[in-house]
Amino acid sequence: MRKKIVAGNWKMNKNFEDGLKLATEVVNIAAAEVTNDVSIVLCTPFIHLAAVSKIAEGSPKVSTGAQNIYTKESGAYTGEISIDMVKSVGTKYVIIGHSERREYFNETNAQLAEKLNLILKNGLTPIFCCGETLAQREKGIHIDFVKAQLSESLFHLSDEDFAKVVVAYEPIWAIGTGVTATSAQAQDMHAELRKYLASKYGKVGENTSILYGGSAKPSNAKELFACPDIDGGLIGGASLVARDFIDISKAF
Ligand code: PGA
Repeated sequence: MRKKIVAGNWKMNKNFEDGLKLATEVVNIAAAEVTNDVSIVLCTPFIHLAAVSKIAEGSPKVSTGAQNIYTKESGAYTGEISIDMVKSVGTKYVIIGHSERREYFNETNAQLAEKLNLILKNGLTPIFCCGETLAQREKGIHIDFVKAQLSESLFHLSDEDFAKVVVAYEPIWAIGTGVTATSAQAQDMHAELRKYLASKYGKVGENTSILYGGSAKPSNAKELFACPDIDGGLIGGASLVARDFIDISKAF
C-alpha cells in the first residue's frame, strides 16, 4: 500500500520560539482532529529539529524531517550537518534535492545520489524532490527532464532500498508563486513518473509514494489528493500556519 504523507517544509522560517509554538499546535490539533491514515512530517530548520522531535515524540501522527544533509558522514566540513546528527535527535525523514537547493546551492543529481545513500544507510526515509521549470514545460521537455532527475539520482538503488524512497514532484513554477498545477497537470505527471518507476522497479516502483508540492493549500488539497497517483503533499507556505497545515492533512 502506498503511504499517505503530508510533509511541511518550513524552509528558513520561524525562530526557535515560534517554531516550537507551531510544532506544539500541529501536534495538538492533529491529535484532536486527524483521524485518517496520513503521516504528518514537520521538516524544520536544523536548529529546531531536536526540540520539535521531542514535541512530536509519542504522537502517532507527527514526526520530523530535515531539509537537507551533507554528502559526508563526519569530519572537517565547517557549518555542515550530518545524517548521524539528524538521526540522533529522532528525525525520521530527510528532504533532498529541493529545487531551491539545486538552484541556489548548485546541488547536482550525482551529489543527491550520495546523500540518498547516506540517508538509506542510516535507516531514514528520503523525500526526493524533482520538478521542471516553466520554460522546460513550455518546450515540452518537462517529462524527460524529471525522468532524468529520477534516474540519475535513484536508479542505482536496489529494489529493497528503492522501496524506502518517497518522491515529491514539485513544478518549480508552482513553488511559492500561488500558481498551483491544476490537478490534471499534477495527475498526468505523477502517472508518467509512476509508470517510469515501475518500468525500472516493477511493483516496488508502482507502490512508491509520490507527493505533490507547489502552492498546495486547504482550498486545493482535496482535489489534488483525490487524484489516483497523488499520495500526499510537500507543503511550504501553508505549513507555517497550524490550522492550514492540518486542514491539508485532513483533505484525504
Ligand atoms: P509552497 O512550497 O507550498 O510554498 O509552494 C512548496 C515547497 O517548496 O516544498
